[in-house]
Order: sequence, then structure tokens, then C-alpha cells
Amino acid sequence: MKLTIKDLRKEYINGARENFVALDSLNLEVAAGEFVSVLGPSGCGKSTLLEIIAGLQARSSGEISIDGLAIEKRQSHLAIVFQQYGLFPWLTVQKNIEYGLKIRGIARKTRNEISRQHIEMVNLNGFEKFYPHELSGGMQQRVALARALANSPDILLLDEPFAALDAQTREICQRELLNLWKQTGVTIVFVTHDVGEAIFLSDRVVVMSKCPGAIKDLIPIEIERPRDFKVRLGESFRKTELHVRLLLSENGKKTLDPESECRHE
Ligand SMILES: Nc1ncnc2c1ncn2[C@@H]1O[C@H](COP(=O)(O)OP(=O)(O)OP(=O)(O)O)[C@@H](O)[C@H]1O
Ligand SMILES: [Mg+2]
Repeated sequence: MKLTIKDLRKEYINGARENFVALDSLNLEVAAGEFVSVLGPSGCGKSTLLEIIAGLQARSSGEISIDGLAIEKRQSHLAIVFQQYGLFPWLTVQKNIEYGLKIRGIARKTRNEISRQHIEMVNLNGFEKFYPHELSGGMQQRVALARALANSPDILLLDEPFAALDAQTREICQRELLNLWKQTGVTIVFVTHDVGEAIFLSDRVVVMSKCPGAIKDLIPIEIERPRDFKVRLGESFRKTELHVRLLLSENGKKTLDPESECRHE
């Protein structure tokens, strides 16, 4: 297994709600090269889960390993991309992509070569010298993807990367992401609120429930690849979509009253 999560628990101790349990007894295994999406109601702990895997947050208990080695013991090659592109506004496209490589002390010539390849992979040839504010949202997100992949991570974590994009740009980015995944063989954990997007992209969809955040169901997506927009109209896609939506709506009932969210009577 590329990524193994065992009995993960996360309690936020000092927040507005004291000792709030965001994740409990969460178990998940992701195979090498697999594309897994995570769906679930707002507040079920999806971002918390990604941040813990990325080492940006401490966990309360449980074990996380990559290639069978505890993450603490492993020089892991993870990259994370957020909804807000997180590019450095004072650096050009090329310099943004080369940033991590520079930090790692990689020589200029190699950096240039790697950024050139990645700019090509995300179809941004000609935009090397542009600054982020001179690009559309979709283009900025492609730079963020290129920057993440330039460091050749073996796991790529994506937290609603396309949520701020219009529907058409979003579809282009989804196709591009599938191409990048195919070319690099990277293992992907992709958080989204969009059921169609999750099914279209993934080998497996993880549906989470909240109060506390845990895995409710794992749904294998057996739609043949390569997939194009037409698969969304097929019988199998629509059946899966209905199934996932039903699972999510069972979840939703609990959240109608925000005042009582996760209160334990
Ligand atoms: N630093 C923090 N301190 C206290 N509680 C937190 C903190 N960060 C998140 N939480 C709580 O943990 C729960 C999970 O938050 P998280 O951001 O992981 O949810 P999410 O599933 O990503 O939601 P969304 O779909 O809206 O992005 C929420 O109830 C949130 O209020
Ligand atoms: Mg989130």
C-alpha cells in the first residue's frame, strides 16, 4: 500500500468548541498509483485529514504510513494543492514552478528543464514570464498543479482544487489532471464537494460522515478509462451518482441545525 491510515483520531483541543472530535476511528488504504476522491458534508474533516497526511497538522492518535513506513520515519515526497492557488504573487510562472526545486538546491539548468517540461504538461507554453495576477483562475490552478508535480511527489493531495473555477474551465482542468496522473503514476487523494467530479476522476470514492468525521462508505468506480465527458451520460455513471447522493443525503440530515452541530447530549 502506498498510504495506510489506521485508527486516526483528531481532537481540536483549544478551539472555540473545546475538545472537539473532528476525526475518529478513521481507516483508509490507498494503493500505489490509485486515484481516490473524498466526499462528505462540510465540516466532516476532509481538510483536516489531508493536512494530517501532509504533516501540516498533528494527529491525536492513530498511525499513518507511506510504503509501510511511519510518516515520521520517512522522508516523504508529498505535495498538496489547495482551493486558493497559493502561488507566490511576486514570482513568475516559471519561478513559482521552480521554487521547491531551488529550495532543494537543484542546479539552475536542471530546474529550467523540469519547469519547461511541467509548463508543457499543463499547456502553459508562452506564459513562463507571466505573474499570477496576469493569469485566469484556471491557469493559476494549472501552475499550482505543475508546481506540486515538479517536485515529483509520490502522493499528491488536492483540497477542492477546482472549486473556484467555472464549469467549463473545471472540466478542462479535470481532463488535464487525469493526463498528469497517467503520465506521472502519482497516487492522488482528491477532496471535492462535486459528486460528478469525484466519480469522473476516481478509481474509488470515499464518502465521509460527520460528528465525528469518519468513513461511511468506499465505492469502487468501475467505469473504463480513458474517460471522456460522454461517460457522464452513461447508465453506470448515473447509477453510481445516485447511490453516492443518497449516501450523502443521509449524512445531511444531521446538519440541518448548525447550533446543534455535533453536540453530544
Ligand atoms: N483549528 C481548528 N480548531 C478547532 N476546530 C477546527 C479547526 N480546524 C477545523 N476545525 C473543525 O473541525 C471540523 C472539520 O473541519 P474541516 O475543515 O476539516 O472540514 P471539511 O470537511 O474540510 O469542511 P469543508 O467541506 O467545509 O471544507 C469542523 O467542525 C471545524 O470547525
Ligand atoms: Mg475543507
